[in-house]
Amino acid sequence: MTSVLVTGGAGYIGSHGALALVESGRRVVILDNLFRGHRAAVEAVRRLGGGRVAFVEADIADDAAVLSWAAWVKAALG
Ligand SMILES: NC(=O)c1ccc[n+]([C@@H]2O[C@H](COP(=O)([O-])OP(=O)(O)OC[C@H]3O[C@@H](n4cnc5c(N)ncnc54)[C@H](O)[C@@H]3O)[C@@H](O)[C@H]2O)c1
Repeated sequence: MTSVLVTGGAGYIGSHGALALVESGRRVVILDNLFRGHRAAVEAVRRLGGGRVAFVEADIADDAAVLSWAAWVKAALG
C-alpha cells in the first residue's frame, strides 16, 4: 500500500487531497500546524479513512519538531 505525507492537510486543498488519496487506497499522514486549517477537517478525513489516516500537529518549517516526528511518521507510513 502506497503511503503519502500531506503537508497542509487540515486546509481546504490538503484535506480534499488527503481524502482523495485515502479513497484511492493510500495511507496518509497529515502534517499541519492548524494555523489556518481545521482539526474538524482532519477528523472528517480520519473518519472516512478507516484507520489509514494519521495526524501530526507541527510546523513544517520547525526542523526540530519535524525531526522529532520523523521516526513516528516513518512508522505510521509503514
Ligand atoms: N470553495 C471553498 O469553500 C473554499 C474554502 C476555503 C478555501 N478556498 C480557497 O482555497 C484556496 C486556499 O486553500 P489552501 O488549501 O491552499 O489553503 P488553506 O489555508 O486552506 O490550507 C493551507 C494549510 O496549510 C497549513 N499550513 C500553513 N503553513 C504551514 C506550516 N508552516 N506548517 C504546517 N502547516 C501549515 C494551514 O494550517 C492550512 O491547514 C484559496 O484560493 C481559497 O479561496 C475555498
